[in-house]
Amino acid sequence: GADVEVDISGIEPGQLIRVMWRSKPVWIVRRTPELLAALAAHEDQLKDPNSEVEQQPAFAQNQWRSIKEEYLVLVGICTHLGCSPQHLKDGAMEQYAEGVADGFFCPCHGSKFDMAGRVFSNVPAPSNLVVPPYQFVDDNTIIIG
Ligand code: FES
Repeated sequence: GADVEVDISGIEPGQLIRVMWRSKPVWIVRRTPELLAALAAHEDQLKDPNSEVEQQPAFAQNQWRSIKEEYLVLVGICTHLGCSPQHLKDGAMEQYAEGVADGFFCPCHGSKFDMAGRVFSNVPAPSNLVVPPYQFVDDNTIIIG
């Protein structure tokens, strides 16, 4: 079928893996406690910090935009014109967003997203990155779709 089953047991803390779902790239990131804590620090810089625009299933309408805080699942397509944002980590994001160490940067027109896929203000992308439908089959397995 069109659903994709992913074994997440091998993802290291802080690591992002890519899978394809319905011809779209989907990212799964295992967020560390530090990455999760950092989400609260820059909400005044975001367009839609509470995910009020419908860009996710209801289960992900929370600060982490996920079912389990630790695992972020996103469609890896910029919500501006569809380019592929880069994952910038360990301080590499700070050149684009002051005080934000980790996030996603779209090289096409400079849109910026945090480690919950939330879009920053003053960039062309209008909305947060999309969270696809998914579920946990067990602690080590996600089904996307
Ligand atoms: Fe990403 Fe324009 S397509 S900023």
